[in-house]
Amino acid sequence: MTQTVGIEIEDGIAIVVTDNPPVNALSADVRNGLFKAIETVEADANVEAVVIHCAGRTFFAGADIREFDKPPVSPVLSEVIDRIEACTKPVVAAMHGTALGGGFEVALGCHFRVALASAKMGLPEVKLGLLPGAGGTQRLPRLIGPQKALDMIVSGDPVGAGKALDLGIVDNTVDGDIRSAAVAFAKKAVAEGLPIRRLSMFDERLAAARADMAPFEEHAAALLTRKRGLDAPRICADSVRNAITLPFAEGSRKEREFFMHLKNGVQSAAQRHLFFAERTAQRVDDMPKDVRPGKVEQVAVIGAGTMGGGIAMVFANAGIAVTLIDVQAEALKRGLANIEKNYARTAARSGKGDDWIAERVGRITGAESLEAVAQADLIIEAVFEDMALKHKIFADLDRLAKPGAILATNTSTLDVDEIAAATKRPEWVVGMHFFSPANVMRLVEVVRGRKTGFQALATAIGISRAVGKAPVTVGVCFGFVGNRMLYARTRQVERLLLEGAAPQAIDKAMTDFGFAMGPLAVSDLAGIDVGWRARQQAGSKIAPIADALAEMGRYGQKTGKGFHLYPEGARRGEPDPEVDALIARMAGERGVKRREISSEEITERLIYAMVNEGARILEEGIAARASDIDIIWVFGYGWPVQHGGPMFHADQIGAGMIAARLAQMAESSGDETLAPAPLLARLAAEGGAFGKL
Ligand code: 3HC
Repeated sequence: MTQTVGIEIEDGIAIVVTDNPPVNALSADVRNGLFKAIETVEADANVEAVVIHCAGRTFFAGADIREFDKPPVSPVLSEVIDRIEACTKPVVAAMHGTALGGGFEVALGCHFRVALASAKMGLPEVKLGLLPGAGGTQRLPRLIGPQKALDMIVSGDPVGAGKALDLGIVDNTVDGDIRSAAVAFAKKAVAEGLPIRRLSMFDERLAAARADMAPFEEHAAALLTRKRGLDAPRICADSVRNAITLPFAEGSRKEREFFMHLKNGVQSAAQRHLFFAERTAQRVDDMPKDVRPGKVEQVAVIGAGTMGGGIAMVFANAGIAVTLIDVQAEALKRGLANIEKNYARTAARSGKGDDWIAERVGRITGAESLEAVAQADLIIEAVFEDMALKHKIFADLDRLAKPGAILATNTSTLDVDEIAAATKRPEWVVGMHFFSPANVMRLVEVVRGRKTGFQALATAIGISRAVGKAPVTVGVCFGFVGNRMLYARTRQVERLLLEGAAPQAIDKAMTDFGFAMGPLAVSDLAGIDVGWRARQQAGSKIAPIADALAEMGRYGQKTGKGFHLYPEGARRGEPDPEVDALIARMAGERGVKRREISSEEITERLIYAMVNEGARILEEGIAARASDIDIIWVFGYGWPVQHGGPMFHADQIGAGMIAARLAQMAESSGDETLAPAPLLARLAAEGGAFGKL
């Protein structure tokens, strides 16, 4: 048919095979091929039924996202799917791998669906800031009812074949060979004269919803409260509502309009940027092509504190055996008990049973001696930020670890090169900086020391990916990328407080921008004492107000008082006149003139200071690409996805505008760190962008 789509005929069954590696994305050539294939087989008197099958590792994983920045090419996917559905011969989708987005919509256009038991399917468009744009919001509600469809469409999470069978999405699940199973199903459809099922004509489930819209509206409202600031989930719900209230053709036309509207908007551009940025971040440009990640079957984690425990859970969750080592018996006992408690809490919340807990806990073995690292392929040190202690541990690891083991440190501030110098094998030493809670946050900053070897680097990246994390390679400097930018922001938070911004105004500016919590509420939640201790260790004076609060024993929520007041264990803080007075006094002592500060200025000052630090980081080569910084902030610090990361956001505003504002703010505040970084100034002068570097 075309370069990517062909037809094979076996016993009266036409198998339309797409082969468009790596994931059979529905490119223009594939769409064209499918359309022509259906026309051809329909006209072929020797064909009684059709199977839509994909070669390689997966059924169609969706529309080709790379085409979204270009004008649409005919036939568009909805036309292809309508053509498949209109076919007068039974069409069976043979689903394996991941049938996602437009790929799942192709399957919904088929009259029957057979899936491999290991297959997953769903509509992840919302994660790209989109809605399913090829009939998904109209056909899925007709198949499984609008509420269940809404769950899948608004979450974007795929379901396994077993669940899909329960939901009535697939007609059959099989083990073994999907192609022959689908051919057998097609033969059966012909032999038994199974009536052709066109989902566009189903109405039973919608009629029930139409009779009483209240349950749908309540369900939609509940789902949307968790998606504040994002356009796509709301529009997904609008489109599913249309499925209930409008005829199929009208609902589909509106769905297409919604799709184009979202596709052309900045939120989807930001989320698509993040999709590719996450994958690009896993590449190390100078890595020789033949380096492959080493096998990691046994992990040892040193330090049974919150971080060490969380890291142990990451590997246990992925089915990998972990030895959790702490030389203090009490700490080890507490650490293991915390892990068990954590699993029990998750199980209670998600309806998992005791077996689920036991299986995970069973993968973690406690040990009180470093000798237990002997068999580990990967050893991650997660003890306090104390160079002398880390030196001692790495010298011991050098003696005890097997050759070729990866010696990783989870340090968030210390010099990885200095840690590596404690060993005679610095080429095997790498930083793996996880973010708290490690079992939840996806970011891992993989810190490449001066002597880190490619093999160690490739293995650290590979294993991070394999356990579901988003690894980003960074160079050695204080705070690496994420914390270094965080410190730049913290510095401005403190200065804004002294200059007159209320703690509540600072938090509100950041939640209005899209962060789930403001920076001061986060400090109160995490514990002001945690940052205070870290700053003391590092000799940092960037946060005098937070330090003063910590010295007063105002540690945040856990003491009922921090930047905000938490009467009787309240989770939401209230203004505290004592804090306001403290800040005013400190401003007076420092001779800072206080003034009204607008929310806009707060936002600009905090965000642009981060961008400026990001520019310095890029210039120094600590991050390889601007998009790597975006991934770090989205996956490590909850940067709002609709803004695509700080450097993407900067490009939306323009380097010229940011540099000009920073120069003004540097002047008015007297803080020279706000002066535009040379790279930012250059981009401003040249009309350049971080994304084009
Ligand atoms: N379009 C274009 N390229 C795609 C793609 C897509 N839909 N899906 C994956 N790719 C590319 C990746 O960028 C990557 O390229 P690279 O090797 O150059 O970096 C390559 O395919 C392999 O992808 P992964 O590294 O992600 O491979 P995995 O095996 O880890 O994961 C996957 C495979 C689960 C299919 C994952 O790639 C994925 O989730 N893809 C996106 C699925 C999706 O969002 N589909 C919906 C698209 S929007 C849509 O369909 C609109 C419609 O409603 C009209």
